[in-house]
Amino acid sequence: MPEDLLVFYHPETLAQICALREYFLEKEAANGMDSVDQWIRMVAINRLTGHSSGFFSVYTMPPNQAVSIVSQRKINEKRKQIPQVRNITDIILKKSKSLVKDLCPSDTENLRKTSRHATLLTRDSRRTPEIESQSVSLVVTSPPFLDIVDYATDNWLRCWFIGIDATSVPIAILKHLSDWKQHMFEAFQELARVLRIGGYIAFEVGEVRGGKIKLEEAVIPCAVNAGLEPVLVLINQQEFTKTANCWGVENNSKGTNTNRIVLAKRCS
Ligand SMILES: C[S@@+](CC[C@H](N)C(=O)[O-])C[C@H]1O[C@@H](n2cnc3c(N)ncnc32)[C@H](O)[C@@H]1O
Repeated sequence: MPEDLLVFYHPETLAQICALREYFLEKEAANGMDSVDQWIRMVAINRLTGHSSGFFSVYTMPPNQAVSIVSQRKINEKRKQIPQVRNITDIILKKSKSLVKDLCPSDTENLRKTSRHATLLTRDSRRTPEIESQSVSLVVTSPPFLDIVDYATDNWLRCWFIGIDATSVPIAILKHLSDWKQHMFEAFQELARVLRIGGYIAFEVGEVRGGKIKLEEAVIPCAVNAGLEPVLVLINQQEFTKTANCWGVENNSKGTNTNRIVLAKRCS
């Protein structure tokens, strides 16, 4: 049991999490993961840490923004909290029920049918040889916004749980706009290849650097240079509570506050 993790979990909860982790790692190594295992693992990585009793941990950040051990120690001291025992089986069951509660029998059937042909890839979007040329009608995607989010550090706990070395994942963290544009151009070239004529790409970005850089303005030339026609830019501004609000960042002030979706079409 990695004792450092006791800042997040009660010892009994951590023992259960470690047992579940080992079980999945062993099954995966033996190519024995079935769909039920995959579901449970998906739900479990979503419940690793969070801000309520619906998560395995004491009060903290969500699992895609897991704080470091040192920061969690500070949170515990400040809030005078110690991790309580959680029943991880009950939590996984409850979350599973809520995830499927809106599915009607025809949705389930459609998902079952579609999943037989679905291809799930975890790789650099600039090289996807598994996807046939001109086979896709619609691409919906969102790239990293320059270097705003450190995905590897934010996901360290999830990576521990599923046995991935975050440093081995080629994540684009690009500080300079010119490098970012080059990377996006290469991604657009690959997307244009897989898109069928008449197909669309919805490419979501945001404003960064205090609103000085509107990434959609950088995206449009990348799409055009890859042979696509820009159709429209949809800007969505709304009242919302940012995750960064927990660190005292006001909504609609700093950070990214709008969604900017560039719609591009492959015409020839
Ligand atoms: C703005 S987020 C979009 C997240 C996505 N919409 C979702 O809901 O999961 C950008 C994502 O791009 C991923 N990413 C970074 N570099 C990439 C690359 N070269 N190819 C594909 N994805 C990449 C990051 O890890 C991150 O998950």
